[in-house]
Amino acid sequence: MSAHVGLCRRLTIPEIAARKASAGKGAPLTMITAYDVVSARLADRAGADLLLVGDSVGMVVLGRENTLSVTVNDMVHHARAVTAANPQAVVVGDMPFLSYQTSPVEAIRNAGRLLSEGGCQAVKLEGGRPCLEAVERLPAADIPVMGHLGLTPQAVHRMGGFRVQARQAEAALALLEDARLLTEAGVFALVLEGIPAEIAQLVTEAIAIPTIGIGAGPFCDGQVLVWHDLLGLSEGLSPKFVRRYADISPIIVAAITQYIHDIRAGAFPSHDESYHVGEDVVAEVRRRQAETPRPGA
Ligand code: KIV
Repeated sequence: MSAHVGLCRRLTIPEIAARKASAGKGAPLTMITAYDVVSARLADRAGADLLLVGDSVGMVVLGRENTLSVTVNDMVHHARAVTAANPQAVVVGDMPFLSYQTSPVEAIRNAGRLLSEGGCQAVKLEGGRPCLEAVERLPAADIPVMGHLGLTPQAVHRMGGFRVQARQAEAALALLEDARLLTEAGVFALVLEGIPAEIAQLVTEAIAIPTIGIGAGPFCDGQVLVWHDLLGLSEGLSPKFVRRYADISPIIVAAITQYIHDIRAGAFPSHDESYHVGEDVVAEVRRRQAETPRPGA
């Protein structure tokens, strides 16, 4: 069970930054995506340490092919819905494509909106060296920032698809250097996505802040999964790192099928599922209805 369930208070960003499970400093961090008040409420009730309002919302909620068309307004909209659940978990909002790459000033403005309008406690952005200036400027503006390296979905075209990264020594060394630079620049935690477990372990050992893996093996300081993947709500083939903890889709389809059947059979709604008035009211309405001349009659 998550540490904060018992304590019943939100972890602070410095506490998260110190949670280095791989070095025996606390339990592994648990993070799950959330996109609305229902997903936030349920994940929070389960005791997740962090909720990520991921730009994966573009794919799993809005049905798009990738995350590139997600806007800051979209992210603020979904962050507001998540924080409306008033979760104990720390809420991290994703910075969408082009909201931080153009200039550090834009990055501060957009990240600030996720905190001030969206109610998030921190933001996450993808990439290493090219984003260092933005990463440095955000904590300086009191905006905690989480990094994200490896398979970074906003770089889908550069990577030639959603492909596992850092399989060769050269690329793994570049990733290690990016992780070191991001840590120096002030990220409080680092998501590692779609990289070999051995490389994730080397990164985790090399930096002082926690790594949170997705498709990065068991040696990270925490794990994150996408809500729809974990619950069996995604369609099509899942990547091998996804563990489906439930298969919710057939339960939902069966319930809605029964609803449709009951309407068609006249079995819904029942007497008890309806509001009622006394016979006297019905009689009065009928009498006055009969007295009222109908237009054209
Ligand atoms: O957008 C997202 O859901 C993410 C996770 C996959 C880490 O960035």
